[in-house]
Amino acid sequence: MAHLEFRGVIRLGVIAGTVLALPVLAAAQSAPTFSKDVASIFQEKCESCHRPDSIAPMSLVTYEETRPWARSIKSRVAARQMPPWHIDKSIGIQHFQNDRSLTESQIDTIVRWVDAGAPKGDPKDMPPPVKWADDNIWNFAKIFGGPPDLVVKSPTYTQKAMAQDAWFKPVVSTGLTEARWVRAIEIRPASIKGRKVTHHALARLQQSENGDGAPEVRAAAAGGDEPGPGLFMEWAVGKQGEIMRPNSGKLMLPGSKIVWDIHYSAAGEDITDSVELGIYFYPKGQEPKYRQALALFSGITGGNRALDISPNSVYVGTNFHVMRKAGRVENFQPHMHLRGKAMSIEAILPTGQTQMLSMVSEFSFNWHNNYVFADEAAPLLPKGTILKITSWHDNTAANKNNPDPNQWVGWGDRTVDEMAHAWVNITYMDEEDFKVEVEKRKQKASTTTERQQQQ
Ligand code: HEC
Repeated sequence: MAHLEFRGVIRLGVIAGTVLALPVLAAAQSAPTFSKDVASIFQEKCESCHRPDSIAPMSLVTYEETRPWARSIKSRVAARQMPPWHIDKSIGIQHFQNDRSLTESQIDTIVRWVDAGAPKGDPKDMPPPVKWADDNIWNFAKIFGGPPDLVVKSPTYTQKAMAQDAWFKPVVSTGLTEARWVRAIEIRPASIKGRKVTHHALARLQQSENGDGAPEVRAAAAGGDEPGPGLFMEWAVGKQGEIMRPNSGKLMLPGSKIVWDIHYSAAGEDITDSVELGIYFYPKGQEPKYRQALALFSGITGGNRALDISPNSVYVGTNFHVMRKAGRVENFQPHMHLRGKAMSIEAILPTGQTQMLSMVSEFSFNWHNNYVFADEAAPLLPKGTILKITSWHDNTAANKNNPDPNQWVGWGDRTVDEMAHAWVNITYMDEEDFKVEVEKRKQKASTTTERQQQQ
C-alpha cells in the first residue's frame, strides 16, 4: 500500500511537471531555425572555409548540407574549437583585428538550434547567399590601383589523392636588386583546386641585414634571438591579406629570399599547385616612418636548443626578451608542434608591474593562427620592457595529438620534434614618437568614456 501511495505522489509530480513544461514547449516553438537565425552566422563565421571547393571537409552553406553535421557542429562550437580561434577569452587583451570567433550569443543560438532538433524553418527567412570571389582575384588590386608590384611563387607541388600531410619548405629568391618598403602583402594558392589541399602557407623573409639594418633588428640579434625580418605573411583560407598600419612597413633588401612552409593535406584527388605571394610596395622615395620587425621569441627555458621534454610529462618553459626601444606589439602567433598545449605572452614593465597580454590555452597544431591586436588595443610598451613567453607541452597520453607519450622529445624541425616560440611583430619608435602615441591612446580612451557617460 505504502508503495502505491508513493507512486501516486510521483504521478502528481509528473502532472505538475507537465504544467510546468508548457512554457518550455512554447520556447521550443520559438527555437532558432536554420533559415532565420543560423544561416547568417554560418555565412559570417564559417563559409570562408566551409563551402564547396574550400579547405574544410564539408560545406555549411545550405540546410541540406549542414543538417547531417548538427551534432558535431554543436560540440565543436560549444568547445570553441570552431571557428579556429584559440585565444583564451578570460585572459589578456580581447580586441583583435582579425577575430573570427563566435560571440557568446551566437554560440547560444547554434546550441539551442541543435538541441531543438536543428529545424530548417521557413526558407523565406534565408539570408541572400554570399558571393565568394572564387575567381582568384588579388584582393588589394582595387585599393592600390593594380595587381601586386612583385609576385613570388613557390615551386609546384603535387599532393596525391591519398597521402599523409606534407610540409613543403622550398626557398625562392625574390629577385629584388634594390631595397623596397612593403605596404601590403597577399598570399594565395595559384588555383582554386589548390585551396583544397593548401591547408596553410607561411612565407618567411630571409635576408642579410649586414649590420646596416634597423637598430631593432641588430638588437634582436644581440639578444640572441633569431634576427631579421622573420615571418612575412601567413595564409589560411578566408584571409584577406595584410595592409601595414599607417606610416609603417617592412623593408625588403636586395638578394632577399622567401622561405616557404606550406602545409598540404590530401583531398581525394591528385592536385598540383603552387602558392603565390603578392607584394605591394610604397612608391620609390616614399619611406614609411616605422619599420615593422618580426621577432622569434623563444618560450623555452635556456633557449630553443635546451628543450628537453621527458616521457609522460608536462613541460613548462619560460624565456625573457628585453625591448631595447619603446614600441607597439602588433600581434601574437604561437608556434609549437604536436605536443604544444598553451603559450602566453606577458609584459614586465620597467616599474616591475606585470601585464598579461595574451594567451592561447588550447593550442592546436592544425591552426597556426596569427592573433593581430586591434588598433586601439595593441600594447604600447616603454623601452626596457621585458616580454616573457611561457610555453606548455603535454607529452602525456591525455594529449590526443601525441604520437607517442613514451618518447623523449627535443627541439627540432620535424613535427614529431618540438618547438615553442612566438612570432611577434613590433613597431619600434623613438621616445618622442612613443610619447605622442601614448597620448593619442589616452585621449581616445577618455573620449570613449565620456561618450559612454553621456549616453
Ligand atoms: C579558417 C577555416 C575554418 C573556419 C572559419 C571554420 N572551419 Fe570548421 N573546419 C575547418 C577545417 C579545415 C576542418 C577540418 C580539420 C579540423 O577539424 O580542424 C574543420 C572541421 C569542422 C568540423 C568537424 C567536422 C567533422 O569531421 O566532424 C565542424 C563541425 C566544423 N568545422 C564546424 C564549423 C563551424 C560551425 C564554423 C563556423 C561557426 C567553422 N567550422 C568555421 C575550417 C574552418
